[in-house]
Amino acid sequence: MAKQEDVFKKIVSHAKEYGFVFPSSEIYDGLGAVYDYAQNGVELKNNIKRYWWEAMTLLHENIVGIDSAIFMHPTIWKASGHVDAFNDPLIDNRDSKKRYRADVLIEDEIAKIEEKMNKECEKAAKRFGDKFDEAMFRQTNPRVLENQKKRDELHARYEKAMNDNDLAELKQIIVDYEIVDPVSGTKNWTDVRQFNLMFKTQMGSSADSTMDVYLRPETAQGIFVNFLNVQKTGRMRIPFGIAQIGKAFRNEIVARQFIFRMREFEQMEMQFFVRPGEELKWFEFWRETRLRWHKALGLGDEKYRFHDHEKLAHYANAATDIEFKMPFGFKEVEGIHSRTDFDLSQHAKYSGKKIQYFDAELNESYTPYVIETSIGVDRMFLSVMCSSYEDQQLEGGDTRVVLHLPKALAPIKCAILPLVRKDGMPEKAHEIMNMLKFDFACYYEDKDTVGKRYRRQDAIGTPYCITVDGQTLEDNTVTLRDRDTMQQQRVAIADLPAIISQECSLNNVLRKLM
Ligand code: GAP
Repeated sequence: MAKQEDVFKKIVSHAKEYGFVFPSSEIYDGLGAVYDYAQNGVELKNNIKRYWWEAMTLLHENIVGIDSAIFMHPTIWKASGHVDAFNDPLIDNRDSKKRYRADVLIEDEIAKIEEKMNKECEKAAKRFGDKFDEAMFRQTNPRVLENQKKRDELHARYEKAMNDNDLAELKQIIVDYEIVDPVSGTKNWTDVRQFNLMFKTQMGSSADSTMDVYLRPETAQGIFVNFLNVQKTGRMRIPFGIAQIGKAFRNEIVARQFIFRMREFEQMEMQFFVRPGEELKWFEFWRETRLRWHKALGLGDEKYRFHDHEKLAHYANAATDIEFKMPFGFKEVEGIHSRTDFDLSQHAKYSGKKIQYFDAELNESYTPYVIETSIGVDRMFLSVMCSSYEDQQLEGGDTRVVLHLPKALAPIKCAILPLVRKDGMPEKAHEIMNMLKFDFACYYEDKDTVGKRYRRQDAIGTPYCITVDGQTLEDNTVTLRDRDTMQQQRVAIADLPAIISQECSLNNVLRKLM
């Protein structure tokens, strides 16, 4: 097994063991791709959401927030295109009774061919050492060339079938390339069918008055349908944005990789309304602004990249993803889309209401264009966990697991630990806790040796441990231990708020964005 897969498994079990993420309904054997955030996880998640919310609504005078309902009028999903087109192509294996996304099966097959070529190169690199010229090898080695040809042919067929929405061709590719079910190992496939990802339920109490409603698959539509309300009541002038954080639901066929692809998840979306013709300028602005937001957390600049979309949705005129280097490769965490006037025009058409903006400067009315930034809270959470986790070898053969969380996001900022449970130390520790708890999330613990307590705090990413000892009672100083360096310094109790605030305050991260 690849080393990175091992690391990912460790992160998943660490998240459970240390109270970050639990499988939902675990005592009933869980519920596929649904997770609960535990006592530490909810704090980390709330801090991520606060970072996003404040970066949007405090730092931009022209962005306001809303919190719209999860249930919305079902026509909204007709207008947005979700009823007709929010589909994935699915296929079943008759032997294993497992359901797959046909596109994912083919993409996995493409990845396998690429893996073969990479292995060939790795072997040759070992054989030739410093003299190895990889570009030349890829252009001349017959086995690599053969696989490259196979990969390109498959990719071209796959891309065409997806673009043409040709389900029969997707099935034919699976047959032609002899793709087998990873579980049963057989090729006993059904036809490919479209599968709508929205969850449907009923609203209303009597049989006559019930209506089918959907759990929203994105929060964005709640913003579009409130465009006029917010613009008028907030006296907003274009350009302006509306931000929202909330749950979204998708009946994902293939739910993989822990909280990366869930059926119930949370989004942080912002729709920025601009003059028609100015959208590409604003698209660039938001592309850069969002990347800066990610990088300011200090998870490592090299872990981000843009993936510009070549194939655009019919209503979009530019789109890019911000991808993050997860242990299972670069993956989309956020999408930035230039959605033209599609959504507002569709809602005007389906609702029969005029959804326009009068631009006093231009003395004309128009349907605003929209730049959308859309990030998944859970994917952001996962990227923070993955880049913070370290299984550290210490001098002397000892080890520790430490989460180097960005300090501003850590669930607990400081643990207050009396060295022993006597001689007035617990009382003094509580006194310190009572001083700090109004400004910082604090944790008091007096069980076990102080070394064990330090390790437990390292494992949940607490930036500081404050230890109360005999000297504290004499001179009102404590030891302050840093999570990352494990260095301890003696500081006055009175200086603690300033030191912790300097290192852990969210404001310091927000200031980097200006
Ligand atoms: N309003 C645009 C929209 O929803 P999207 O690319 O479908 O665009 C935006 O989703 C973000 O939501 C993604 O970049 C991802 O972070 C998150 N997301 C989407 N589906 C998800 C899922 N099943 N589980 C977790 N996060 C998901």
